[in-house]
Amino acid sequence: MDTFETIHGHRSIRRYKPDPVDAALLEKLLEAGVRASSSGNMQTFSIVVSRDPDMRERLYGPHMEQEMVRQAPVLLTFCADFRRMRKWLRISEAPDNFDDFFAFMVAATDAILASQNVALAAEAEGLGICYLGSTLANADQVGEILECPPGVFPVVGFVLGWPDEDPAPRDRLPLSGLLHRETYHDHTDDEIREIYRDRNRAGWDRYMSRPALRAAVEEAGVENLAQLYTVVKYTREGHARYTKNVLGYLKKQGFLQG
Ligand SMILES: Cc1cc2nc3c(=O)[nH]c(=O)nc-3n(C[C@H](O)[C@H](O)[C@H](O)COP(=O)(O)O)c2cc1C
Repeated sequence: MDTFETIHGHRSIRRYKPDPVDAALLEKLLEAGVRASSSGNMQTFSIVVSRDPDMRERLYGPHMEQEMVRQAPVLLTFCADFRRMRKWLRISEAPDNFDDFFAFMVAATDAILASQNVALAAEAEGLGICYLGSTLANADQVGEILECPPGVFPVVGFVLGWPDEDPAPRDRLPLSGLLHRETYHDHTDDEIREIYRDRNRAGWDRYMSRPALRAAVEEAGVENLAQLYTVVKYTREGHARYTKNVLGYLKKQGFLQG
C-alpha cells in the first residue's frame, strides 16, 4: 500500500480472527520498528512480544479485561529501556547519567516512535492493531508479568492480528485546530466551539450507540461529550490511581534518581 493510503486507512481494530501472524511477517514488522528515529541512536527501547495464550491471559486483567488481549494472536509491549545501554556503559567504564526522569522521557519517546513504525508496517500488510492505554496506566502490573528489570518501563502496547471487523474511520479534529503558524495561538472560546463542533456530535453519537456506555452516561446524568470524557471515562479518581501507579513504578525502576 502507498504510505498515505496506509496512514489514512487506519482504524483501531478490536475484533480479531484466530489466524496466527506468521513469524517471518512479525519479524519484518519488528524490524520496521527498529528503523525508527531514536535519540542519539541509542535505541533506548525494548519490544516484548506476547504470543503465548497463557501470557496474554495473565495480561488480560492489567489490560482492564479488554477482550482483544485474549483474542488477538499477538500483543506487543514497547518499553522505555535504559538497562541495556547502562550495562554497556558499565562494562565500558563510562559514566552513567541515565537514572533520571529526563532519561525516562528520552527512552519513552524512542519506544513510542518505534511502536508507531510497527503499527503502520502492520497496517500496510493488512493487519489490524489497537493500542492499549492500560500498558501505561497499569505499567507496574504489566512490567511485573513481563519480568521487566530495573531500567525498563512499559510505555505503550498494542494487540496485533488479522481483522475480524471493518469499522468506519473515526473523525479527527480539523488540522486548523491543531496547527499553529510560527507561534502558538491560544484559542478563544468561540474558536474552541468551532474546533469541537463536529466532534461534539460524532463523538456523542458514537458513545450513545454503545449500550453499556449509554447506560453509564444516563446514570451519570451527563449531557454532552466533554462531560462524558471527564465524568464517565477519564475521572479524577482514575487519573489519581494511574498517576500513583506510574510514579511508584518509575521510582522502583530507577528513573527518579537524578
Ligand atoms: C496510547 C493509546 C492508548 C489507547 N488505548 C486504548 C484502549 O485501551 N482500548 C481501546 O479500545 N482503544 C485504545 N486506543 C485507541 C483509541 O481509542 C483510538 O485510536 C481513537 O479512538 C481513534 O480511533 P482510530 O484509532 O480507530 O482512528 C488507544 C490509543 C492510543 C494512542
